[in-house]
Amino acid sequence: MMNFARTAALGLLLASSLATAQTPYTDDSTYRGLGGKEGIKKIVDTFVPMLLADPRIKDSFADFDMAQLNVRLQEQFCEFAGGPCKYTGKYRDKTMDGVGTVRDMTTVHQDLKITNAMFNALAEDLQIAMEQNNVPSSVSNKLIAKLAPMQRAIVTK
Ligand code: HEM
Repeated sequence: MMNFARTAALGLLLASSLATAQTPYTDDSTYRGLGGKEGIKKIVDTFVPMLLADPRIKDSFADFDMAQLNVRLQEQFCEFAGGPCKYTGKYRDKTMDGVGTVRDMTTVHQDLKITNAMFNALAEDLQIAMEQNNVPSSVSNKLIAKLAPMQRAIVTK
């Protein structure tokens, strides 16, 4: 797909999935479509260097432990795809009044001044990383749709 068409499709997908709950899939078809743990590792190993090379967002990642981020992203993608993993990051659980225990992506990202454009750039890189690892778009769209609701927690600028 041409870059423009992909970006347009992604924008629509992100917009339309904002109402989706931020919860993992309950069946593992997306996990299997990504190639299981091995496939997810390959995708994240493609994705992380793309983030560091992307002029739209690479500055955000300076000074952070990318090896740790790599592991946390593998866990999180696996969990959200319905696989047998749990995100074990330092911000895994936070109790919010009236909501209960939530996975706290806000605390992780709040000092980073992330814009919608930066969020979309990262989502686009992830889509490309999955394409490069031969994930069918029916599967990659499902992972993106699961992550998209985090936009509200992550974008603060
Ligand atoms: C769907 C979108 C996103 C997801 C699912 C996501 C997920 C994560 C996860 C799981 C971590 C690891 C936290 C830990 O160590 O436990 C993390 C950290 C981080 N993220 Fe994101 N993120 C997203 C968007 C972004 C964007 C758009 C940026 C910047 C352009 C960004 C920058 C960072 C940075 C710099 C860290 C390291 C923070 C630290 O180690 O304290 N993230 N993210």
